[in-house]
Parts: sequence; structure tokens; C-alpha cells
Amino acid sequence: MQKNTESPAVLFLTHSGQLGGAEISLIDLVTPYSKNGTCVVFQSGPLADRLRSATGITVQQLDVDLSYIHRESEPATLATSTYDVLKLSAKLGRLAKDFDLIYANTLKASVIGSLAGLWSGRPVIIHLRDILSYQHFSHINRIVFTLTARYLASAVVANSHATIKAYLVAGGHSSKVRVIYPGFDHLRFTRTNKDTIENLRQDLGIPENAVIIGCFSRISRWKGQDVLMKAFAQQHPTTMLLLVGAPLFGENEFLGELELLSHQLQISDRVIFAGFKDNPEALLSMCDIVVHPSSSPEPFGRAVVEAQLSGKLVIGTDMGGIREIIEHGKTGLLVPIGDIQALSTTLTSVLADSKIRIEIGLAARAFASEQFSLSAAHEATRLLISDVLRGR
Ligand code: UDP
Ligand code: GLC
Repeated sequence: MQKNTESPAVLFLTHSGQLGGAEISLIDLVTPYSKNGTCVVFQSGPLADRLRSATGITVQQLDVDLSYIHRESEPATLATSTYDVLKLSAKLGRLAKDFDLIYANTLKASVIGSLAGLWSGRPVIIHLRDILSYQHFSHINRIVFTLTARYLASAVVANSHATIKAYLVAGGHSSKVRVIYPGFDHLRFTRTNKDTIENLRQDLGIPENAVIIGCFSRISRWKGQDVLMKAFAQQHPTTMLLLVGAPLFGENEFLGELELLSHQLQISDRVIFAGFKDNPEALLSMCDIVVHPSSSPEPFGRAVVEAQLSGKLVIGTDMGGIREIIEHGKTGLLVPIGDIQALSTTLTSVLADSKIRIEIGLAARAFASEQFSLSAAHEATRLLISDVLRGR
């Protein structure tokens, strides 16, 4: 097949069918390739329909269960997975022959997609969206991924410099990596009108004088909602905490722990567990402050940028990708990871100071619209694909 560098046919691969940040970012990424491209989603879930309706791309959902391979998998598990991995990669390899290039989103799809690249002779781009630290990934997973990326992929894209750094520490090779930050349609975050906000407040039973602190993260232990709840418990009784997001990757137990914690801290009447929302931007504009309390380094942190685009002051933790989004005191505030007291003190001071909330919120919006535009992300991806197809 002749390589088409002008409008390439790209085969996108992704593992999870849920709507986490990696998958939402993929929706934006595939848009320019929807005509000639196909996206294969290994697992069932809402992603396939959302990809189709948002972009028009052809989607194949496979319902393959590879959940027994996970971040902490030991060598024995990986050995028993060999058959499933080879079978799936062979199938994708046959499919890939109709495309110019394979673009794999996140780790499992990257390993399987790289093998498909080997079988089909098509180049592979890997999009890395995880911090490959030993706290999150077993040694063998880190080895398998870094070797795959080094020997089978043509290029590795990382969602932040922090992600690249961890990849290099894990043994990754620096020669073919580049950072492409996720892009955002900033108009989406400025459109909510006053009536919508008023209706939402009423639906959620939020009193008129209440000040709302929001957190837009899936429910997961490393997202740090427990730390936020403890810091929130020390705030004035007129404040409300709005937790938007659900346990997408089997962490229902942690949701139960958070609900219990809200009772133990005697704040259950001031905490709203809103669950997963398809369009969280209206809830975002309702908030007075947003906190992104990840208790482990965030690879990037889409929710931080979205809050900035809504003109909010965001308090984030001082590690990982968030450091590339928030400049402390200018485009948001940073607090040390896991430090309940520092978060509580920061919350108290900014809740009392509407001037700083407005000032930082405006600077954050200007910064995020400039730094994380969808058009810049699309252009960087176009260049990358073109370089790979030309063998550069
Ligand atoms: N999000 C959503 N609905 C929710 C909660 C979150 O659509 O109820 C979105 C949020 O707007 C953001 C993404 O999920 O775009 C989360 O991405 P982030 O990078 O912050 O975290 P990840 O889940 O990728 O670790
Ligand atoms: C991953 C990361 C998150 C990042 C997203 C998009 O899901 O956890 O930090 O923002 O990918 O790249």
C-alpha cells in the first residue's frame, strides 16, 4: 500500500471503553482522521458510542477481557497472557494492512499495537499517558513497555514532560520521544449561562449563600479525594464540596470509604457525590474554587486545564504534570502532595479573598487558552504522523 502522508489512514487502538482522561483525549485526537481512520476499542463501555457521535470515525469494539493484566502484574501473569496478546495482535496486524499507520493510546494498546505493527509492517506511534513509576507499575510491566517502545515503535508521545521524565527513569530511550499536551476546545468552558447555573444549584439543593469547592476527578485512591475531604472539613459551614466523577476502573470500594469518611467527619450534609457527568462544564462554572488533590504525581491533569478555562482558581498538588499547568501564585496555587493542613490553610485564605480568586482565575484562563489549544495539539500530531510516515 502506498503511504499517504497528506491524509493518512490511521488505525487508532485503545484498551479501555470507559471515559477517563486518556480516552476523552483520544476523542479529540482522532477527529482530523475520522474520514479514513478506524478506532479499535478493546473493551466495552461508553467510549465507542461517544467516539462515533463526536467524530464520525468508524469504531470497532472488541469486548476482549484483558483485565487480568494490570499495573502490578508479575512475570507469571504476563507469561500466561502471551497467547491472548499474540492472538489479538495478529488480528490487529491483519487489520492494520489496510492503514498507513498504527496509533496506540496508553499502555496495553501500545504493547499489543506494537506487535501488530511488527506483523503488518506498519509504523507505530505510542501515546504514553501514565507516569511509569515503581509505585504504580510492576518492574516487569515497566520493562515490557520500555523495550516495546524502544524497539517496535517509531515514536513515543508523552502527555507532559513529567511523563517523559518517568519514562526515561524507567529505562525508556530518549531518541524518539516528544511531548504533545492535550488540546481543549476552550469555548466549551465559557458558554454556561446564569439560568443554567441557577437551575443546577436548585437541583442539587445548594443553598443560595453557599460557596462551592469543586473536584472533577474519577474516584480513585490516587486522585486524593480523601485528602480534600479532610481539608474541607476544617472550612466554614457555609461551604459545600462538590465531587464530580465516578470510580471508572473498579474502585467502588474507595467510593464507599469516601462516603463513610464524610459521615465520620460530620460533613455528609455538605458533600455532594455527583457521580459521572457527560458534560461537566456547567457544574464547573458553578464552582467558586476547584481543587485537584491527586496524591500521586498526575501525568497531565485535564481537569486542571478545564477549570482554568472556566476562569477558576485551581489548587493543585505540586508534582507531575500539574506543575506544567499551574504556575504557583499566577495561574493557580500549588500545595504539597497529601498535606491536609497546607490545603486547608490555602482554602481558607482564598475563600476569604474574592479578589485573588478573580485575578488568578483570569490569568489562568488566558494562559490555558493560549497554551493548550486544540489546534496546536492537532498540528503537532499532524507533524508527528507526517514525520513518521516519511521515516524522519
Ligand atoms: N470528567 C467527566 N465527567 C466527570 C468527571 C470528569 O467528563 O464526571 C472528565 C474531565 O472533564 C476530564 C477527564 O474526565 O476531561 C479527566 O481527565 P484527567 O486528565 O483530569 O484525569 P484522568 O481520569 O485521565 O486520570
Ligand atoms: C491519563 C492521566 C491524566 C491525563 C490524561 C490525558 O488518564 O491520568 O493525567 O491528563 O491521561 O493525557
